[in-house]
Amino acid sequence: MDDLTNKKEVSPEMIEEVLVQAHINQIDVPDIVIPPISKQYLRNVKQLTTAGNRFILTDGISDVEVKVISDEIIRVRMAPQGEFLEEFSYAIDDFKFHITDIQTTETPDYYRISTNTISCHVRKADFYVSFLDVDDVVINEDSRPMHWEENAEFGGYYVYCSKKRQQGEHFFGLGDKPSDLDLLGKRFTMWGTDAYAYERNSDPLYKNIPFYIGIHKGVSYGMFFDNTFRSYFDFAAEEKDKVSFWTDGGEMQYYYIHGPHMMDVVKRYTKLTGSHPLPPLWALGFHQSRWSYYPESIVKELAHTFRAKKIPCDALHLDIDYMDGYRCFTWNRKFFPNPKKMIGELSGLGFKTIVIIDPGIMVDEQYWIFQEGRDNKYFCRRGDDYFMEGPVWPGRCQFPDFTNSKVRNWWGDLFKEFVEQGVAGVWNDMNEPVVFGKGTFPLDVRHHFEGYRGSHRKAHNIYGMQMVRATYEGLKKHQRNKRPFTITRSGYSGVQRYSSTWTGDNMATWDHLKLAVQMLQRLSISGISFSGSDIGGFTGEPTGELYIRWMQFGVFSPLMRVHSAGNTGAREPWTFGSGYEKLAKKFISLRYKLLPYIYSAFWENHKYYFPMLRPLSMLEQEHEQNYSRDDEFTLGDKLLIAPVIEKGVVSREVYLPKGMWYHFWDLSVWNGGTYYEVPAPLDTIPIFVKAGSVIPEYPVMQYVGEHEIHEMLLNVYYAPYHVNSFMFEDNGDTFGYEQNIYLEKKFETSGNEEMLQIHQVIEGMYTPRYEYYRIKIYGLPFKFSKVLLNGKQLSGVKQVRKGNILVFRAIKNFKKIEIIAAENKYQ
Ligand code: GLC
Repeated sequence: MDDLTNKKEVSPEMIEEVLVQAHINQIDVPDIVIPPISKQYLRNVKQLTTAGNRFILTDGISDVEVKVISDEIIRVRMAPQGEFLEEFSYAIDDFKFHITDIQTTETPDYYRISTNTISCHVRKADFYVSFLDVDDVVINEDSRPMHWEENAEFGGYYVYCSKKRQQGEHFFGLGDKPSDLDLLGKRFTMWGTDAYAYERNSDPLYKNIPFYIGIHKGVSYGMFFDNTFRSYFDFAAEEKDKVSFWTDGGEMQYYYIHGPHMMDVVKRYTKLTGSHPLPPLWALGFHQSRWSYYPESIVKELAHTFRAKKIPCDALHLDIDYMDGYRCFTWNRKFFPNPKKMIGELSGLGFKTIVIIDPGIMVDEQYWIFQEGRDNKYFCRRGDDYFMEGPVWPGRCQFPDFTNSKVRNWWGDLFKEFVEQGVAGVWNDMNEPVVFGKGTFPLDVRHHFEGYRGSHRKAHNIYGMQMVRATYEGLKKHQRNKRPFTITRSGYSGVQRYSSTWTGDNMATWDHLKLAVQMLQRLSISGISFSGSDIGGFTGEPTGELYIRWMQFGVFSPLMRVHSAGNTGAREPWTFGSGYEKLAKKFISLRYKLLPYIYSAFWENHKYYFPMLRPLSMLEQEHEQNYSRDDEFTLGDKLLIAPVIEKGVVSREVYLPKGMWYHFWDLSVWNGGTYYEVPAPLDTIPIFVKAGSVIPEYPVMQYVGEHEIHEMLLNVYYAPYHVNSFMFEDNGDTFGYEQNIYLEKKFETSGNEEMLQIHQVIEGMYTPRYEYYRIKIYGLPFKFSKVLLNGKQLSGVKQVRKGNILVFRAIKNFKKIEIIAAENKYQ
C-alpha cells in the first residue's frame, strides 16, 4: 500500500522552501513545476483542544478529531491540512447513543480520552492512536501514524490508516466478498461492480460495506471506515503484522466499535447504520423468479402449477422483459395486455407480483419519463455539463441522480401507477450503476450529493443505495400503511434501512453453493441480514441434487428466492422430476412451518440489531478453530444449520457449540462442544435445536394469509436448565408495530427431574385471532402424572410413547405450565 506511488517523501519545511523558491523563480522562470505534496505522516502532537465530546489534536499541519459517539464507539477523523469536511454521511442512521461520562487525561507520553468502557490514547511523540478496554488492554493500535498525500489529479488527498495486526488476529465482515469468512491474508477493494458469473475471490462485487471486525485473544472490535470513495483494505496481505485501509479521496474517518463479543460489535454497528424495517410477512415466504417469465400466459401457468402441485409460494418476479423495450415503468402490452387484471388474478391465487427496475432511462424523445427527467434536469451530467449517456438494456440511457432528494421524490412517485396496478414489491438491479462496455460512469460525472456536491468518484459507491432508498420511500408513500418490499443488488453501509439484497449473478456449481453459505453469513454480520442467493445458481445448469441442496439452504436464508438467467434451463421446483419435486416441496413447506420463528428473528434484527444468521465464530469466538468453520451457522439463536455443500455426500461433519442440542428430524439429544459426523441423505439437512427452546410453528399454507390460524403450535425441547425463547406477532403487513401494535412473548423453560415449567410473559397490544396453543413437549426425561395450567390440572394430555412426545392444548394467554413427573417416573 505504501508503494502506491513511488514519490520521495517531502517534509513541510521542504515544501515551504519550494514555494518560496517558486515565488522567486516565478519572476524570472514562469514555468516552474511545483511537485504535489507527497506522503506525509502525522508527526508529534502539538496541542489538544476540547469541545464537548470532540477533541482536536494537531501536529501543526494536520488536525485529528477524536469524537466520542457513545460509551463504546469513538470516531477518528483526519484533516490533512487542518480543514475538516462538513459532517455528512449516507451511512449513519438517526441514532441516539448514550454517553455516560467522558474523561480526558494527559500524561507525559500521551493524551487519553475515556468513556466508562473504552479509552483512546494518542501518543504525543508520533501521533499513534490506540484503543484500550477498561483494563487497559490494547484492543487496536496504529502501526504507523495516519498519513496522506495530495491527489494531484483530482484534488483532495489519498488518506491512509495502518493498524497493527495483533497476535493471532483474524478478520471478518466487508459485506458481499465471495471468499472464506475469515479475511486474513487478503486484500479487497470497495467499488461496486457488475460481476456477472463471478468466481471465488473475485473482487470487488456489487456492494460497498467498509466495515470489518477484528478478533484476537477472544476479543472482538469493529472498524467502520465511513468513506464512499473507492477504498482498499489489506488484512495482513502485504505485511504480516499490518492491517490497512485507505482511499483516494474524501476524509480518513473511521469508527472504532468496541466488543468484546462479536455480537456486541455487530449490534452496535447496526445501531449506527440502521436496520431493516419489518418486511411484509409474505416477503419471508418462497419467491420464484427467472429472467424472464413472459408472456402473461406463462406467468399464469406458473402460478397455477404451484397451486395444483400444492407447493407453497408467495411471490413471482418479473424480470426486464415485462417492459416495453426495457423502458422503466412501462409494460410490454403485447406480452402483458392488461397488467392490472393479470396481477389481480395472481393475487386471487395468493401471489404477489414483484417487478424489476433498472436506473438507466432510455433516451427516447417519445418516452415521457425521459422527457420529464430531462426537462427537470434530473439526470446526471458530465464534468463539462454534457448529459451522462451510456448503454444498458434499452440501448442509450441517461441516469437519474439519486443523490438529490428531488430526484428521489420524483422516482418514488413513478411507482404510483405500479402500486395502483397491484405491484407488491420492486427489485432494483444494475445500480452499481452499470454501463455496458465501460462498466460504470466515467469519474468526471457530477452528483448533487445532498448539496455537498461530488464527482462519481465520491458518489459511485452510494448510487445504488440512494436508488433503492428512492424506491422504498416511493412505495411507502403510495402503498399507504403497507410495508414495502424491495431488493437491491448494490448498496453502501446502511442500505439495509431500505432494502433486502441478493448476492447477484452466481453460478450453478457446488462451490457457489458454499460461497452463498459464506456470503449470507458475511452480509449478516456486516449489518445486512435480509439477504438471499439465487437458489440453484443464476448461470449454468444445476443437477437436481444441487438444486435440492441449495433449496435446503434457502429455507434458512432470510430471503428465499429461486432465480436464473434467461439462457439456462428452467428452475421450477418440479423441473428436475418427481423425486426432486417431492423434496423441493418438503423443504419449501418447512420454510412455511418456520415462518413465525424466522419472523421473530427478523424482529430481533429490526428492533434490537441482532444479526439473523450467526456464524460459529460469533457463537464461540473464544475458539480459534471456529473461525474457519464457516459452512454452518445459526438462524436466530435456536436453530443450528449445517447445509450440505458437496456433491454426492450423505453425511457431513457438524460442530455443535457447547450445550445440549436436539436433532431436528429424529429428536435425539446430542451434547455440544464437539464434532459429529451427521447423516444427511438428500431428503434431509442437518438441523439442530438448542435444548430448552420453544419454537413456534405455523401449519403449512400455500401462501401467507391463505387462512386464519386456529392454533399456534409451540414445540418445546426439554432441557435440565433455564432457557429463554422469544416470539413476535403482529398483523404482518402494516406499520402498526411502530405504534406498538404487536406482541413480544417470552417463554422461559426450566426443567429438572421432577418437572418442566414453562412461563410465558406477554407484552404489547396486539390480539392474535387464534385462542389456543397446541403444545408439543419433546425429550421429557420422565413419565408425567399431570399438567397444571396456571395451577389447575389440564385434561386431554397425551403422551406419545414413540419419540416420547407430550401433546396438549393450552389457552394462548397462559402464564405458567407445569408438567409434573409421576412417582414411578422412570417406568
Ligand atoms: C442482472 C441481474 C439478474 C437479472 C438480469 C436481467 O444480471 O443480476 O438477476 O436477471 O440482470 O435483468
